[in-house]
Amino acid sequence: PGLHSLFVAAGKQYFGTATETNNFNDAPYLAILNDPNEFGQITPENSQKWEITQPRQGQFVFNNSDMVAAKAKTNKQILRCHTLTWHSQLPSFVTATSWTPSTLRAVLQTHLTNVITHFRGACSHWDVVNEALAETGEYRPSVFFNVLGESYIPLSFSIAASASANDPIKPKLYYNDYNTELFPQKTEGALRIVKLIQSSAASGARIDGVGFQSHLTVGKTPSQAALASTYQSFTALGVEVALTELDIAHPSLPATDADREQQAKDYVAVVGACLAVDKCVGVTLWQFTDKYSWIPGIFPGTGDACLWTADYKKKPAYFAVRQLLESA
Ligand code: G3I
Repeated sequence: PGLHSLFVAAGKQYFGTATETNNFNDAPYLAILNDPNEFGQITPENSQKWEITQPRQGQFVFNNSDMVAAKAKTNKQILRCHTLTWHSQLPSFVTATSWTPSTLRAVLQTHLTNVITHFRGACSHWDVVNEALAETGEYRPSVFFNVLGESYIPLSFSIAASASANDPIKPKLYYNDYNTELFPQKTEGALRIVKLIQSSAASGARIDGVGFQSHLTVGKTPSQAALASTYQSFTALGVEVALTELDIAHPSLPATDADREQQAKDYVAVVGACLAVDKCVGVTLWQFTDKYSWIPGIFPGTGDACLWTADYKKKPAYFAVRQLLESA
């Protein structure tokens, strides 16, 4: 048994990982990615982002994202789709134009409708709005917020609901963010966003879930009880939750044996919290091997955050999570 088969046996929908086309010529990587016992779900790490899917206004490009979708299909894995309205990885036509509210609304309408329609029948979930909050819980400045205020959030969810209305697999529509389990003001901000979308139902908006990205730090990961209680504050509003980008980085390297034992405890706390919350539906790793982790590129000197080493050895954290799932 592997992580996915055990997680499903424990009543959850999927255990998965982010992956990208630049990983697809790596045979040892693929041997793990393609193992249906380990992973029942994949997320494209970059190829569905705006700068790649619509690099110039009106020009849509799906080469790489189609390859990730095809991989999911071949492997019979669920495809979580990521992401539509986000301040980052935007093409310059979005960031360098002075929009009026109505022209920017039209740009959102075109982008979301085209991308969602292209992946009709393939996506089980869409991260519709990503990272709308600053660490203070206030809205993050972005081209969308600066021109449209908070209205861009329910607008994105209403476009997504209407573009996916006839989709045979009816994707679940998610708000996705990080540090929402760490900073109380950011938790409050995300709860406010869920309520804002729910209160916009008359305009066709709908939210089904909240993604906790879960980019966490070894030794600074909240306890299982604290995490579960945060997740429950969202499920109490009627939405499901998922851990959408899990990795737990060592704050300094190299990691000692003791650091790796702490990392194992932290992974167990997080996956255990999902197990403990009925409406926590799944866990996605943000890459499963350190070989392709985004962390050292952005935070040099930190990392080793994944369950497998760069040379594909399972870490203590892998075995600890597997043991947790075996006893679940
Ligand atoms: O593809 C180009 C390549 O042509 C170029 O030579 C190279 C030089 O820098 O850059 C390559 O693009 C990089 C891209 O990843 C693909 O590898 C970008 O520079 C790099 O910034 C980009 O990083 C991604 C990051 O999002 C961008 O914000 C990471 O791979 C990806 O893991 C990360 O994922 C995000 C989630 O989408 C949202 N939540 C946080 C998470 C971690 O930052």
